[in-house]
Amino acid sequence: MMFEYSAGAFIYRNDGDGGNAKRLFLFLIKPNNDLDVPKGHVEEGENAEMAAKREILEESGIEAEFIPGFMAYTEYYFYMDGKKVLKKVRYFLSKVSGSHVKISYEHKGYEWLEAAAAIRKLHYRNMKELVAKADEYAEKHELMLKLNREYANLPAKAERWRLSKRFVPGEGPLDAKVFLLGQAPGLNEDKLGRPFVGRSGKLLDTMISKAGLKRSKVYIASAVQYYPPKNREPTKEEIALCRDFVSRQIAIIKPEYVVLMGNTAAESMLDFRGVETRHGEIIEKDGVKYLVTLHPAAVVRFKKKGRMMEDDFRLLGRLLRKK
Ligand code: URA
Repeated sequence: MMFEYSAGAFIYRNDGDGGNAKRLFLFLIKPNNDLDVPKGHVEEGENAEMAAKREILEESGIEAEFIPGFMAYTEYYFYMDGKKVLKKVRYFLSKVSGSHVKISYEHKGYEWLEAAAAIRKLHYRNMKELVAKADEYAEKHELMLKLNREYANLPAKAERWRLSKRFVPGEGPLDAKVFLLGQAPGLNEDKLGRPFVGRSGKLLDTMISKAGLKRSKVYIASAVQYYPPKNREPTKEEIALCRDFVSRQIAIIKPEYVVLMGNTAAESMLDFRGVETRHGEIIEKDGVKYLVTLHPAAVVRFKKKGRMMEDDFRLLGRLLRKK
């Protein structure tokens, strides 16, 4: 069988502000009046992302940046010169601020449509499902942006702030099945503004693989998303100050499991400490399933504890596969 690869993107913008804002997606109108999104062949020497950006520029005049974490594919068969071809299309998600579009000769026009209106107009079921998926992801992206803007403003609002002022937000796909919660950023994370990039991060990657997952498929955050100077443990007050933000991040992502790594994470979400005696437990609270385990730093320090954490991540893998 022959294969053909294409790449494109769902491009959206917010029309209006606040509660009345509408989310509009860009659709190009083909000569037969069907709607499509900018997309085209992945040429030799290109990857999907490069191809999608080039096609978007050619077909809409937009220089797109992609929202990390969104992954959508379709595939379908067609016949070319009597031969069956499997075509795979990878879609990205992009947000733009303006409504200006410059179409190419390939299309006769364009429309900015809300997802529901587009779904009514589109013919193919897979395209309808993809628009719904892109809309859902865009909603999560907008909610997370708003929440993280508020969280990033915390040092300016607090009366007494003893943590670093650099916000280190969670990272990963907003539709992840697993939300990993650590303690607080370390010095490396504070420098780079990303969670788990140091030695604990390396160990965490190994644990993630024990669950049959990849880092790019899980959401990773800390119970306190600011570096405590000298790498001290966050205080009770600091944990409490950040608790609501973490709960709201979990509510946006709606993972199947939240993995509480270490005592700070367990205290933050379930108000207990002593993860080494309770590791491997699944605890359900307010509709969220938590799996208790150790913090990777504990394993970096005491290699012998690795077995406990590994067992917990293997359990996580089995639970995910059971569904
Ligand atoms: N430990 C954490 O708990 N979070 C990080 O981001 C890094 C190390």
